Order: sequence, then structure tokens, then C-alpha cells
Amino acid sequence: MLTFSQKEESSIKGTISVPGDKSISHRAIMLAALANGESKIKNFLTGEDCLSTLQAFEDMGVSIKRDGQSVSVTGEGLNGLKEAKVPLDLGNSGTTTRLLLGILAGTPNHYCIYGDQSLTKRPMDRVTLPLREMGAKIDGREDGNLLPISVRGGSLKPISYTLPINSAQVKSSVLLAGLFAEGVTKVIEPVPTRDHTERMLKAFQVDVTRAGNEISLKGNQTLIATDIEVPGDISSAAFFLCAAAMKKGSHITVKDVGLNPTRTGVVDVLKRMGANLSVSTNRYIGDEPIGDITVDGGNLKGMTISGDDIPRLIDELPIIALVASQAKGKTVIQDARELRLKETDRIQAVVDTLSKMGVSISGTEDGMIIEGRQGPLNGGTFNSYHDHRIGMMVAIASLLTDESVTLTDEECISISYPSFFEDFGSLTGSHV
Ligand code: S3P
Repeated sequence: MLTFSQKEESSIKGTISVPGDKSISHRAIMLAALANGESKIKNFLTGEDCLSTLQAFEDMGVSIKRDGQSVSVTGEGLNGLKEAKVPLDLGNSGTTTRLLLGILAGTPNHYCIYGDQSLTKRPMDRVTLPLREMGAKIDGREDGNLLPISVRGGSLKPISYTLPINSAQVKSSVLLAGLFAEGVTKVIEPVPTRDHTERMLKAFQVDVTRAGNEISLKGNQTLIATDIEVPGDISSAAFFLCAAAMKKGSHITVKDVGLNPTRTGVVDVLKRMGANLSVSTNRYIGDEPIGDITVDGGNLKGMTISGDDIPRLIDELPIIALVASQAKGKTVIQDARELRLKETDRIQAVVDTLSKMGVSISGTEDGMIIEGRQGPLNGGTFNSYHDHRIGMMVAIASLLTDESVTLTDEECISISYPSFFEDFGSLTGSHV
């Protein structure tokens, strides 16, 4: 339990670098484990989700050495994974589970995977259905929809799969299974989703091509080990970028953050809301752009966020909803039904939390409607719903009230941002 005390100075100021990107850290371990030879990963995110990925591959016999944020992975190629001696514990991590299922589908061993209470409720049929179509034998509760799940993989045939939901996890799972299939696997994505898998496959010298919205790769290619530097996670940076944008007098810079255009929806939305924000792309690490973002606090206005924008900011919607409470006018978030299926039902969690803080907000089937300019928020005791992004939203909301805010079960924040409270303290000058 943590209490955020009242601050004398309520603007936030300073320069930080946030920890490594969660999506990229998962993929770095996975692809390095499937490659031939040693890959060195720098700035790996040591959040619990990525440690679940690391542990799962160690359990499958991959040699992994970690020293802080530096990880060395020695893979033995596509056929190098061993049958694990234990069921694989994937903790809270949906990304690990869905991407790993794609890999296990192609591996001729038997595996059993399970996770924590939240993961055990999350739908897996979005990946088990196409993976079964490719030939994997998958069992689990609700006909392979819910963990624990057991997989017997091997001898996959390629498919051409049009994503029924806009999910990078599903796209990646099918593409990873496609690495093991005889022939060309195709994924068609009607709306672009984060493309770290495709970019990183290229870094491992896999020939993966995109024509319009269709991504293709031929199976049985050799992944060549490579070194990877993970950029800062824009989804973590978003909490402080949003805090600065809505607090007058604030000025912050987040350095060395990933600027992949499939992830920068929050930057575009803050700009459209009127934030004073500048982005400089400084370099590329592999195929991923990286740079600095500076934001000054000011007046914001509400807007509608929907359609193709949603996958580019899906994880940022809780903190964007908080920003909307401080903007002038109404903000409408639509087409974000997927939020109900994250670590918790994030529409319900945001609506309940912000309502208790005094914001006029209502949930819809696929989004939220937030009335802006509600005045100072109410303090009180809030919980994170065991969801890291809800916990961080509550911490940032404490900057918008003179009353004290207490957050229970804050430990889950270490899922994606283990040093969140240090950065919070350095930018706000407060001690929590
Ligand atoms: C992720 C994709 C997104 C995102 C998740 C990480 C990934 O999920 O919400 O936190 O690394 O591919 P969906 O692709 O299911 O929307």
C-alpha cells in the first residue's frame, strides 16, 4: 500500500529514460532462442512479464545468462527446444502465452502452460483456432480457450489467415508458427498493428515480406543470431508524457524511447488534444526508430479516438482517459472492445476508478465517454485491479488532487515498469 502526499509544486519537470520496451524484450528472447548461436540483448526489460518469457525458454533447455538488463541467449535453431521438465508458468503475461503458443505449435514435444488468476481468464482461442488449423494439437478448458493448455506441436501446414481482431499478438503467433510450416504462411491484417515481430525477424535474417496489408514468410528458414538493443518503452513513457501534458508549468523529456509508428498513437493523440510536444528521431536500432520526446504542460481539448488509431495506443487508453478528464469538452473512445479482455476489464476499471475520483465518465460496450474539466479530483483509497497500467494511472491521478491518494496492491506495476516510483519521485520531487 502506498500513499501519495500533497505536493507543494504540482508541475513535473526533468529528464528520464524509461526501461526497455516490453513487446520488443519478449520477442528478443523468443527469436534469439530459435536462432543458431549467441545473441546479446541490451536494455532488456526486467519486468515480470519478460522474466516469465525468459524462464519459459530456460525451462525448455535454452542457455540464457542475465546480468541486470543484459541478456545473452544461445539458441540451437528452430529444432533446439527441449521438452520442459515442468509445466511452463507464464505468470501474468498474455504476450508470452500467445506468442509462445505459436512456437510450441511447431515444436514436436508436449508442453503444458499455465498462468496467474488474470491470465487464466483471458481468451486464447484467438490463437489456438488458427494454430489448430495449421495442425497443432491443443487442449484446454472451453475447448482450448482457457489456460491451463497443453500443446503437442510439429508438422505444421501453412495457412493464409485474415485477422478477425486487430491483434499483434495473434498476427505474431501465426507468423511464429509459420517459421515451422512447410511452405508460405500469410497473415492479412485489415488494420495495422504493432510490427515488432516482422522487424525483428528481418534482423535475424528471415525473409518476411509485406505487400499492402498482407505479411508472408516461408517456413524452415534459419534464424541467424544477432545482437539487439531494446529501445525505451513508449507505453511506459506515456504515463509521464500525459502527466506533463495536463499539468501547467511542466516540462519533461523522455530520452531514447521507441518511436515505431505502430506504437506512437499516444503522441499523435496528445498533439491533436493541443499538447505542446516535440519528437526527434535520433537513430535506428536494427529496424526500430528511437529518439526523444519533450512535452510542456498546457491547455488541452477533448476529441474522438477510434478506428485505426486504437491498435496504435491500445495500452495507453487508461492514462488517455485520465488526460481527457482535464481537457476542455468531451472525449469519446470507440472501437476499443479489446480493452475488456486485458489484464483486467480496463473499461470497467477506468470508469470505476475515475468515477470515484469525481470524473463524469461512462463506459460503453467498446469504449468510454469522458466529460472534461471536472476540477480537482477526489482523493481516497484505490486499487490497481492487479493491473499495472491501472495502478500507474492512479499514481498519476494523485497529481491532480490536493487530497491524499492511497494505492493498494501497487506491486503489479513491476510487471512492465519496475522503476516507476523512482521516476515518479524524480519528476515530481515527491517521495512515495
Ligand atoms: C502486444 C500487443 C497488444 C498489447 C500488449 C502487447 C504485443 O495486444 O495490448 O500489451 O506485444 O504484441 P493485442 O495485440 O492482443 O492487442
